[in-house]
Amino acid sequence: MTFPTHRPRRLRRTEAIRSLIRETRLTTAGLLYPMFVCPGSGVRAEVSSMPGIFQQSVDKFLEECHEVESLGIPGVMLFGLPEHKDATGSEAFSTSGTVQRAVEAVRKAGLKLVVVTDVCLCEYTDHGHCGVLSGNSVDNDRTLDFLAAAALSHARAGADVVAPSDMMDGRVSAIRRKLDENGFAEVAILSYAAKYCSAFYGPFREAAQSAPQFGDRRSYQMDPANAREALREVALDIEEGADMVMVKPAMPYLDVVRRVRDAFAVPVAAYNVSGEYSMVKAAALNGWIDEHRTVLEILTGIHRAGADVICTYHAKDAARWLR
Ligand code: PBG
Repeated sequence: MTFPTHRPRRLRRTEAIRSLIRETRLTTAGLLYPMFVCPGSGVRAEVSSMPGIFQQSVDKFLEECHEVESLGIPGVMLFGLPEHKDATGSEAFSTSGTVQRAVEAVRKAGLKLVVVTDVCLCEYTDHGHCGVLSGNSVDNDRTLDFLAAAALSHARAGADVVAPSDMMDGRVSAIRRKLDENGFAEVAILSYAAKYCSAFYGPFREAAQSAPQFGDRRSYQMDPANAREALREVALDIEEGADMVMVKPAMPYLDVVRRVRDAFAVPVAAYNVSGEYSMVKAAALNGWIDEHRTVLEILTGIHRAGADVICTYHAKDAARWLR
């Protein structure tokens, strides 16, 4: 039996009916807002390729954290810019580093925000790669100690969750061990398990001043053509102790989000990255798309694909629109 018995349009007739049967309910409760903290005080510099996103010193960053919390966004993802870069990215694990001070400030202010910190060396190394070098290649095993030290410094500052984004093999277990040995068994790990070597990170590298000074990240970040490999990466990270896993970027990898969601029981996050944000902003500023509708459609799509958590620069706007 088909038409005229079946008329799917009956359930699209009014907003009340549409709302009643809506399959995916996007809420602010699943959003994480990425933020960039820089040295100094009173600094609030807009990232030119990311309108509405700022590099901020700890004082300004803290003001925005109050706003983020009042919008009902549950957490922030922190990236730091160092005073000085060097070969081993030593400010990544310094107790007086920008991220460490930012985390302490959020805790001291008594904010309830979930503080997630990005754990990587690329913002801190003078060569811009995500690990330390041996010759011209990134030395996986030697990098692990540095990453674990960075994660520990974030935990000491009061981070709830550490999020390694470097794509070194074995970093989740190295971080888990280091945290546990130092009494931080309660600090969770959100692993960027399936992080692709993507052109969509372009604006972020301006924001975090983390572009590699030679070569690219293809020898450690994943090939965009591979989805089965993502399942392997996720399986390994969960085995090593990841509490949550992330797929990144989001929009070109929704099939990967779905496959990870179906195959594993841990919470799945998707990172709607800088380039995805900048494209929407640029088109909206030109009057080519309706920003409000576009953003909610994108976030709904990511959630429908299976992401429990969405890390997005649109979080504040989305929170206002979802009220
Ligand atoms: C650092 C890191 C990157 C992003 C998050 N963590 C950049 C990169 O790998 O080059 C990208 C975030 C974004 O584009 O919004 N390893």
